[in-house]
Amino acid sequence: MITKFKIFIQAVSRHWLGKSGVVITNAAFFTLIFLELLRILGILSNSYSGLVTYMTLPAFFVFGLLLIPLGWWRLKKDSGLDNAELMKREFDPDFIKAKSLGSNLTMTITVLTFINIIFFGTISARMLHFMDKPVFCGTACHVMEPEWTTYQASPHAHVACVSCHVGEGVGALIDSKINGLYQVLSVSLNLYEKPIPTPVHQLRPARETCEKCHWPEKFYGMRLKTITHFQNDSINSPKYTTLALKVGAAESKPGSGIHWHISRGHEVIYKSLGDKRESMAWAEVHYANGEIRRFENINFSDEATDDDFEIRTMDCVDCHNRATHIYEKMENAIDLRMAQELIPNQLPYIKNVAMASLSNGYPDKAQGIEAVKKYVNSVYRRDYPQLAIAHAADIDKAAEAISSIYQRNIFPAMEIGWDAYKSHIGHQYDDAGCFRCHNEDMQDGEGNPINYDCTLCHSILAWDEDAPFAYVNEPDSAKANFAMHSYLKAEFIKSTPGI
Ligand code: HEC
Ligand code: HEC
Ligand code: HEC
Ligand code: HEC
Ligand code: HEC
Repeated sequence: MITKFKIFIQAVSRHWLGKSGVVITNAAFFTLIFLELLRILGILSNSYSGLVTYMTLPAFFVFGLLLIPLGWWRLKKDSGLDNAELMKREFDPDFIKAKSLGSNLTMTITVLTFINIIFFGTISARMLHFMDKPVFCGTACHVMEPEWTTYQASPHAHVACVSCHVGEGVGALIDSKINGLYQVLSVSLNLYEKPIPTPVHQLRPARETCEKCHWPEKFYGMRLKTITHFQNDSINSPKYTTLALKVGAAESKPGSGIHWHISRGHEVIYKSLGDKRESMAWAEVHYANGEIRRFENINFSDEATDDDFEIRTMDCVDCHNRATHIYEKMENAIDLRMAQELIPNQLPYIKNVAMASLSNGYPDKAQGIEAVKKYVNSVYRRDYPQLAIAHAADIDKAAEAISSIYQRNIFPAMEIGWDAYKSHIGHQYDDAGCFRCHNEDMQDGEGNPINYDCTLCHSILAWDEDAPFAYVNEPDSAKANFAMHSYLKAEFIKSTPGI
């Protein structure tokens, strides 16, 4: 067998093109096997080496293979012989003599082709598997740095990118690869926009992705959330806001909760201006029995044509557009680190200093991270020299934590600063979120707006108060907030059966 291969290889290597083909193919083949072994043993794991193993080397392998027939063809042309004559010249007569299973030449080509098919099949499967891994999606291309960073800090850090972005099935796979090719081109030719524009239109329907792991029937009850806001004063006084978020999804009873929008018995469909899903023209509830409730934006002029709008059935991503790529708001990020004591909240003025240090823009990330640290230290040295000496360790710790906020959220190379992406989950700062629809202007035929009552979505147990559950206590008639406190307490009790 070996000698047959030898005869075959010698003959196809006669021309320099064929010879190069044989060398390239073999070099690619053996390097690939070697790298694959290192990968299986866990010695190699980064995605650049994966790109070499699964993309560059197979490309060389195929290129080499193509050179072999090309070399043969050139040999034929240069010698002026036809195929049969050339074969006679290059191989001994026994090698090309017809036998019952085909000549030795045919057999050799068949065996080699078979080996190639198996080799290629295996490598393709390994390649697809590798390309499904978050580390590939997140690090093979530098453009993904913001998405990769936010992903790793998110509740989905262990959910593969493809679970949300590709979904299951051959159709989804093919779509995603075609799309991926376009993305590789646009990155190579620098055609992409910065930051990457949203919404992402190619996202699979939530039914095929999110609902594989979370499904509407599963949402019930309330979720308690306490948010600490530290004041900008010298002692960073904490104030607490506590919400009992009504995350239920039950269909039957009205006011059942936030996930009502995606529970089974109906759909919420909306039409919004442009493709940003922000300014609503109308929203409709379509019930299973055919009944429709329609709310129109009374301020919307009808000058724009239909082409300027997008109509969409609400799913998870209409609220959870930042399910994974969560960018923090500057102040929230500082408050959270202070609540976690990563930034020592006993350090006088630190809230104020942190806000100032993160407000500056820097052209480059590495420079920004260092500059934020320096800023924190230098403010204390300059404005509060005694504190700088007494609290040196705390200041260092704070500077580290504050610069890590910068690292986590700001990406100058992709033009992502504070507030680059809107979040639809609540209604904070400029992000209208729920208030895109829940506002006084979205009215039905009788002038009733979509409910925007402050306790529709959450009971409020404290709102910038000194105690996290202030309104659960007895209201104090001497206080200015007596009426609000009494109302919120009663509302909470009413919406929490059993307490
Ligand atoms: C839990 C689901 C989920 C996972 C896991 C996930 N994404 Fe996303 N991703 C989304 C959603 C939802 C959006 C869309 C936002 C929109 O349309 O506004 C998005 C948007 C994006 C965008 C557009 C920019 C942006 O921030 O909106 C990129 C790029 C992206 N994802 C890449 C990745 C990469 C790379 C990974 C893995 C490292 C990943 N995603 C993992 C859900 C996910
Ligand atoms: C492969 C499974 C999987 C998929 C797909 C998935 N998730 Fe998740 N999701 C998880 C896991 C696991 C957690 C973390 C649960 C925890 O921390 O308790 C999570 C957490 C969450 C949370 C946060 C809960 C919290 O504690 O704050 C939200 C919101 C969420 N997912 C929404 C989505 C949305 C929207 C999608 C689709 C775009 C999606 N998920 C797709 C598995 C998944
Ligand atoms: C109308 C807006 C909206 C839609 C649509 C929506 N969610 Fe939510 N979801 C919320 C809000 C608001 C919360 C509470 C946020 C918080 O805890 O900060 C939440 C909470 C969650 C949580 C945490 C729940 C818990 O009990 O702790 C998960 C998981 C989740 N959503 C997944 C989904 C999935 C999956 C879908 C689609 C099938 C979906 N959501 C559709 C608004 C929505
Ligand atoms: C695209 C429009 C739209 C958006 C965005 C939207 N909603 Fe709604 N929501 C509606 C409509 C329409 C209703 C039904 C109103 C009615 O029947 O009076 C509704 C009803 C509700 C209800 C009452 C459900 C029930 O059981 O009766 C809650 C709670 C709610 N929404 C919470 C939210 C939250 C929280 C957000 C943001 C995270 C949000 N909604 C975003 C359109 C929207
Ligand atoms: C349509 C649903 C909805 C309505 C109506 C609504 N909220 Fe909210 N609200 C939310 C959601 C969702 C969040 C936040 C979730 C999060 O941070 O995860 C929120 C957050 C908040 C917060 C905390 C913000 C922070 O981070 O400090 C306060 C305070 C608040 N709401 C007050 C109000 C008041 C006051 C009203 C009435 C004017 C109101 N809400 C009406 C859904 C709603």
